[in-house]
Amino acid sequence: MSTPKSKNITWHEGQVSRDDRQSMLGQRGCTIWLTGLSGSGKSTIAVAAEKALNERGRLTYILDGDNIRMGLNSNLGFSPEDRTENIRRIGEVSKLFTDAGIICFTSFISPYRADRDAVREIMGEGDFVEAWVQASVETCEGRDVKGLYKKARAGEIPEFTGISAPYEEPNSAEVLLDTNGQSVDESVATLVSYLEKSGYLSV
Ligand code: ADX
Repeated sequence: MSTPKSKNITWHEGQVSRDDRQSMLGQRGCTIWLTGLSGSGKSTIAVAAEKALNERGRLTYILDGDNIRMGLNSNLGFSPEDRTENIRRIGEVSKLFTDAGIICFTSFISPYRADRDAVREIMGEGDFVEAWVQASVETCEGRDVKGLYKKARAGEIPEFTGISAPYEEPNSAEVLLDTNGQSVDESVATLVSYLEKSGYLSV
């Protein structure tokens, strides 16, 4: 946890524990941290995986990069400092969702390894599941769902990840979803089976 600016603050415990909430829900809270290039399939996989889990009666929530940048993080851009702050805030929010017992998907490029590792650090053991949504720049640029690669190539978007800003590949991802060749259904099946075998879907 970063050192708070405020002084004279005290941590308050509630009377309902995380275990109580998890027993009620019949699942273990966690954060599935989807990381990868723009257009790699993070949001699509999060939406499809959430639907699959919802159909099995599991409680989930998605924090999505574009959506969060319209509200909570509307004051942040794409400089390295702003991206770090973006990920720091989402790390704290996803930690709260995890503590609530929810299976939380985050869908952010999160291009810097140190930023992702910092989130892993503030989470409890097993609470952070890094899922690398792997697709090459060529694949993402070929899809160009939002037309952003075209704009970035034309120099209209500065600091665009994969073109004019870096993406640092994970070294320690728990799950690899290779969307160069894999379908959405295959990625969802890989993710859900990881959660199942690791004990997140029952307590
Ligand atoms: S992150 O790098 O800070 O993790 P985040 O996931 O929140 O990024 O936002 C990425 C989304 O913002 C992309 O999917 C794209 O729609 C949009 N975007 C706009 N400008 C950029 C840029 N310069 N680099 C990457 N994505 C951008």
